[in-house]
Amino acid sequence: MADTDNMTETKEYFLDRPQTAAPFPLKGCQNLDWGMKNRLAHIFSPASGRTVMLAVDHGYFMGPTSGLERIDITINPLLGYADTLMCTRGVLRSMTPPTFNKGVVLRASGGPSILKELSDEQIAVSMEDAIRLNVAAVAVQVFIGGEFESRSVHNMTQLVDAGNRYGVPVLGVTAVGKQLTRDAQYMRLATRICAELGATYVKTYFVSEGFETVTASCPVPIVIAGGKKMPEDEALNMAFQAVDQGAAGVDMGRNIFQSEAPVAMIQAVRKVVHENMRPKEAYDYFLSLKAASA
Ligand code: R5P
Repeated sequence: MADTDNMTETKEYFLDRPQTAAPFPLKGCQNLDWGMKNRLAHIFSPASGRTVMLAVDHGYFMGPTSGLERIDITINPLLGYADTLMCTRGVLRSMTPPTFNKGVVLRASGGPSILKELSDEQIAVSMEDAIRLNVAAVAVQVFIGGEFESRSVHNMTQLVDAGNRYGVPVLGVTAVGKQLTRDAQYMRLATRICAELGATYVKTYFVSEGFETVTASCPVPIVIAGGKKMPEDEALNMAFQAVDQGAAGVDMGRNIFQSEAPVAMIQAVRKVVHENMRPKEAYDYFLSLKAASA
């Protein structure tokens, strides 16, 4: 029976206080629906507005890439340090513990291997399966300037329509073909096209000259891929330059899982991304963690 006897008559409506809403910390995302924002909050830290995405989806066209031969052994120990895991549904279902309760960004395009023309991708995951997997976003490769440019853009817009229907963000991944110049002009073009056509956020590559013009002209958040393995101090410097020039974080794979000390490296990357730690300090931090674990 409901306890109505002692029901208090005192009410407090706070008439002198207008209802407030906390601003959403991500650029260009304030008009999204609640579900979409909630999913984004599983990718980007609400405190810093940034993310450290751990990218391990390389096998979808490269096969067992160095460092990813046994994801259960090499990647699962890193999960506790990532804000988000970017992977394929095959890896998610076969090797990722369902107790991982941060965001998953699901690779949703694919088709050609490294032996073929890479821009010849198709949508590789239905939105229904993405929702079944409870993912925070789907990721699709967009090949601006590539042989199958239009189809890759269409892959993205189809996923954007499906994602908007169910509140699932879409990460537009700008792919740089061998024949294309990796400069700010190209990155501005590719990222802006992704954003204009509905990507919720965009992944691109850092360029050493003019990267701030790439982030400034893209109306939604940008994260950078790490690219090929480089020395740890250089990778930390690149991450610092990127966030300092407006990136909302990194989607980093090889520079973490191919590091000589992956657990130390991902923690150092976190310091840069979330705490603006300077590159030299972050590298010293990496070395101290590495030494402690030896
Ligand atoms: C390409 O294989 C994927 O989109 C990767 O997720 C992306 O390139 C980030 O990985 P990395 O930092 O190794 O470039």
